[in-house]
Amino acid sequence: MEEREKTERKKIILSGIQPTGVFTLGNYIGAVRNWGRMQEEFQCAYFIADLHALTVRQEPAALRKQTLEAFALLLACGIDPQKSLVFIQSHVHTHSELSWILSCYTQFGELSRMTQFKDKSAKHTDNVNAGLFTYPALMAADILLYQPDFVPVGADQKQHLELTRDVAIRFNNLYGNVFTIPEAYIPKTGARVMSLQDPTRKMSKSDTNINAFVTVLDEPGVIVKKFKRAVTDSDTEICYREGKDGINNLMSIYSAVTGLSYEQIEHDFSGKGYGDFKTAVGEAVAETLRPIRENFARLMQDKTYLEDMYRKGAETASLISSRTLAKVKKKVGLLSK
Ligand code: TYM
Repeated sequence: MEEREKTERKKIILSGIQPTGVFTLGNYIGAVRNWGRMQEEFQCAYFIADLHALTVRQEPAALRKQTLEAFALLLACGIDPQKSLVFIQSHVHTHSELSWILSCYTQFGELSRMTQFKDKSAKHTDNVNAGLFTYPALMAADILLYQPDFVPVGADQKQHLELTRDVAIRFNNLYGNVFTIPEAYIPKTGARVMSLQDPTRKMSKSDTNINAFVTVLDEPGVIVKKFKRAVTDSDTEICYREGKDGINNLMSIYSAVTGLSYEQIEHDFSGKGYGDFKTAVGEAVAETLRPIRENFARLMQDKTYLEDMYRKGAETASLISSRTLAKVKKKVGLLSK
């Protein structure tokens, strides 16, 4: 019976996103869009990683506002709280608690190798805090508490996922099978959406140049304009080739939103100019994002519903994650009360 339950169990999915600004097209294509699609087949848990946001100095009132907006945005992007567990990280105290324990099983050398730590500490030289350094231990806790099989993320989070796996394997080797070893689920197209102004860099919501990124709430006209301004090259051919970073980026975005293959795109735009292609990409993106903007506006009108949903989410998340935490505490030798 137990064996049967095991084989019939729906696979568990978990992922999170920081509330540090409106989600970008990168967040959407690389991660959130796939989260919505996975809800039918899997048992999913998604959360707003507000504790992670504290690693960079935040204005308190703005963080509170952005956290609520990010929660509404998740729902607007198609995450259905009737189907998935949706919550806010800081509402579930088990995350911080397991994070501490796991940080004692994570090595200084491992954390020092994290590219995100190196990048962020170079960017915020006045605030290279311990949280920025131990961030992956909190991320490991976020994940391992829910025993997920897959973690759908963009390519930039792969290294953190690998560290989570290493820590989980280390822990299991010491104490028996406490954690499920999760696998990263990275989409084939759109796993790394690049900046529209510098296609060698990742599209990021913290970019100071607003033309470098598209947010899921941008107006259609703004989206088309940003794509028209996208940096490409002096060549004229629309094809996916090494060295054509700008065009490659636009092709992967277009492919992700239309479902067309690169060959099909090359065929459809053969003999056409970059201008036509950029407009087509902009229009396709605007069309894809339109319902999100509409859903978001509607959801923000109903704060009571949002509060109700995140409170229920926190309750369920606490219940599920407490089971793992209790097991861990027992295994490492903490005396139960
Ligand atoms: P965050 O908030 O930076 O990004 C959320 C998700 O969006 C993906 N992403 C992108 N994908 C493609 N192209 C881009 N330009 C792009 N920019 C961002 C990210 O890969 C991510 O999947 N540490 C995480 C949040 C987190 C988390 C977790 C994720 C905290 N705990 C546990 C998974 C599991 C972060 O800062 O993501």
